[in-house]
Amino acid sequence: MSDNGDKIGAVMVVGGGIGGMQASLDLAASGFKVVLVDRSPAIGGVMAQLDKTFPTNDCAMCTLAPRLVDAGQEINIRKLTYSEIEGVEGSAGHFNVRVRKKPRYVDPLKCTGCSLCVQNCLVHNDAYLEAPLKLPPLEIDPDKNAFVERLVAEYEGGDETLIPILQDITEELNWLPPEVLSRLAELKRVPLERVMRIASFYKAFSLEPRGKYIFTVCMGTACHVRGAPRIVDRLARELGINEGETTPDMRFTLETVRCVGCCGLAPVVKTGDEFHGGVDCSKVPKLLEPYSKTREEELAVH
Ligand code: FES
Repeated sequence: MSDNGDKIGAVMVVGGGIGGMQASLDLAASGFKVVLVDRSPAIGGVMAQLDKTFPTNDCAMCTLAPRLVDAGQEINIRKLTYSEIEGVEGSAGHFNVRVRKKPRYVDPLKCTGCSLCVQNCLVHNDAYLEAPLKLPPLEIDPDKNAFVERLVAEYEGGDETLIPILQDITEELNWLPPEVLSRLAELKRVPLERVMRIASFYKAFSLEPRGKYIFTVCMGTACHVRGAPRIVDRLARELGINEGETTPDMRFTLETVRCVGCCGLAPVVKTGDEFHGGVDCSKVPKLLEPYSKTREEELAVH
């Protein structure tokens, strides 16, 4: 800052995680030129690898993505990624910083991010190492084995087919049993930790057995302010379980989710493939009515 209050010079922010990005955006917004240095190949930091954040359980990417876009587009923030500080000289108000930029082996001005070079590179370079996951050998029953084999044969391709395969398994079994994931990794010839990373990231996938009927209450902002927590309480009382639990007879599971994409209908409850909008506590018994048969009655009908 000059004597007459003008902002001069530039500010260096070291570390391009969520904190570094927000600091850079604030500094740029207040009129400073910013140099954002990060030693990894891209800004975003550890948060880019997280699913949820403590303590609010908010989606990490939903918090990070807007700042990533803003920091990427802000012309007053110069991004020096894959770079490390080698030395700092000078004193307050006049620093000289020596930064070493590591080679990327591609021309960043020509790179479109198509990833063809990664696929054709003879050297395999994992930017984020997957820690080897060791599980004892898992027995899989013949039906499940045949099912996974059929899915893998159906979905030809690499890692990009993992999500649709996991969706099909979830649709069939309602959850992702460990032996099925292990067999899937084996058949797809990918590390099990990669399959687990995807399976544990999305709320739509469950690593715990779930009931035949799943009640999902939206707890996104619109639904939350319009009474979703009271609906969760009422459903929990009626079903005799807490949120995230399944009844002992494996008929009902009560879950919450963040925004199912129809906020205009808030509060929203999803049962199976059906969405119910404008639900309030008085409508909960009606929601449960179609499922009022006991397990014994259901079995007797079939
Ligand atoms: S917040 Fe519930 S549908 Fe969007």
